[in-house]
Amino acid sequence: MARTALYAGSFDPVTNGHLDVVRHAVRLAEKLVIAVGVNPGKAPLFSADERLSMLKDICAPLAREAKCELDYVTFSGLVVEAARKAGATLLIRGLRDSTDFNYEMQMAGMNEAMAPGIQSVFLPAWLATFAPRENPPTAAPTTGQARGEYLTRAVSHCGECHNPRTMTMATDNSRFLAGAAKGKGPEGSAVPNITPDRETGLGSWTEEQIADYLETGNKPDGDVAGGLMAEVIQGSSAGYKDLTKADRLAIANYLKSIPPIKNKID
Ligand code: HEC
Repeated sequence: MARTALYAGSFDPVTNGHLDVVRHAVRLAEKLVIAVGVNPGKAPLFSADERLSMLKDICAPLAREAKCELDYVTFSGLVVEAARKAGATLLIRGLRDSTDFNYEMQMAGMNEAMAPGIQSVFLPAWLATFAPRENPPTAAPTTGQARGEYLTRAVSHCGECHNPRTMTMATDNSRFLAGAAKGKGPEGSAVPNITPDRETGLGSWTEEQIADYLETGNKPDGDVAGGLMAEVIQGSSAGYKDLTKADRLAIANYLKSIPPIKNKID
């Protein structure tokens, strides 16, 4: 019987850490089922369909290379249940650090007790999601605007802060990157509109200036980034400053290509 593995997660959004896990997992099993968690109590950043299509784009080439069959399901509830339904005998878990490890060991113990036929396998997830890397994931776009979009949406989570929030505090993707007023952004901060709108967004910034800001925090008007933006530029172990210049320029190029939205943030 073909060995089937299941890799479950919320994948909201898909990160390079997930890709690292998939890259290893396709070499361990003949079939890999990617299970996208749907939690009715939690508003996702990307819809289940968007997450599935992101995963399909990115995982297919990795699986082809390893001659592993891929399948995709959505699930809510217990991961072992999803694994049993999919006929999986291996449960793939990604590990980022030692905190993950302690938690995952406890989970593995519980899962083993609930489903003795299913074995947990721990695989390393890429530690520094932002750090430059010699071998980028084969399937992620490597240049140009497509890479900028991928970095903006799937890796750097710019929308997590720069999207307006809806009544339920879910990020509003229909007004992508249009900013949030004071009291409405993360930690109550105001978050600027970074669509290319001339008056209320980044319309007057050049791509070079945006890329430079993501490295140094210096604005064209001489001001410097503060608050949460300064934190994500700097990062605790790696931040936007650690992206390559080409990647910062790709993000800037993508930002200039999205629809301008008029939304004045004071
Ligand atoms: C953790 C929240 C957070 C994330 C993630 C984030 N930003 Fe920001 N950003 C902010 C805040 C808050 C400010 C306002 C900073 C200040 O007050 O100096 C800001 C400011 C900016 C500005 C300056 C705009 C202006 O008019 O002054 C740009 C450009 C920008 N961000 C781009 C980005 C890009 C591109 C990304 C993703 C690669 C991103 N940000 C991710 C919170 C965030």
